[in-house]
Amino acid sequence: MTHWRRARLTAVTYDAGVEHERIGMAGGRLLWGADLRRFYRGIEELRTLADGGRVLDVPCGGGVAFRGLPGEGSHRYVALDLSPVMVGRARANAARHGLRDIVLLRGDVTALPHPAGSFDLCLSYFGLHCFPDPPAALAEMARVLRPGGRLRGTSVVRGGGRRQDAIISLLRRAGPFATVGTAGELSSWLCAAGFDDVGVERDGAVAFFSARRAPGGPGPAQPAAQAGTDSSSAPSKGG
Ligand SMILES: C[S@@+](CC[C@H](N)C(=O)[O-])C[C@H]1O[C@@H](n2cnc3c(N)ncnc32)[C@H](O)[C@@H]1O
Repeated sequence: MTHWRRARLTAVTYDAGVEHERIGMAGGRLLWGADLRRFYRGIEELRTLADGGRVLDVPCGGGVAFRGLPGEGSHRYVALDLSPVMVGRARANAARHGLRDIVLLRGDVTALPHPAGSFDLCLSYFGLHCFPDPPAALAEMARVLRPGGRLRGTSVVRGGGRRQDAIISLLRRAGPFATVGTAGELSSWLCAAGFDDVGVERDGAVAFFSARRAPGGPGPAQPAAQAGTDSSSAPSKGG
């Protein structure tokens, strides 16, 4: 049983924090020793990245990335999360931003209800460390991306410092965190899942990653860089 399937308090507390940039920035600094400005600026860049493309946001949480989206009609945006609480918050968030085109799904990242090659861009912010099997999740993201499609995201990783590693152990015992890799392991998982042009940069205990779905599909590739319906249009899954 995954913690997030039922955890209301965790979902509400996390989402309320991350939605407010100043709280999110302070949390990133205090908990993870990381500067999350890059996370929030990366979301703002979606305005150009998502334009005209098919985007998958998994796990979408309460929809923190929605603020970066361009106006309606210029993209197809699917947001999926395991938690019914998060999907509800994402729906309210989309309405607040006037984004009526977003398709919201409740489901499991390791069993996405989409055919291969369905998306041009996959976003995965702060989700991998919450998944029991991050390599399987990445393989599923690679499957639904078209060859040459891009993945970008963030994850908490081990190896950022003793204090951060202790917090990770605590959160694993408490439930919200599951399998937490190091930045090096994340890089290997991405390559094994069929990504190339892999970049993983660690700041404190947060890894910022980007990768391209290799044209040839799954298979080993070399990292390019590494540093220190609830849906209106598709069946709901999970729950
Ligand atoms: C820390 S939150 C991040 C959410 C959002 N991307 C953000 O940055 O605010 C982690 C999310 O992963 C979701 N999650 C956990 N396990 C999942 C799974 N197997 N499939 C899909 N989503 C999952 C949780 O419900 C939660 O919303």
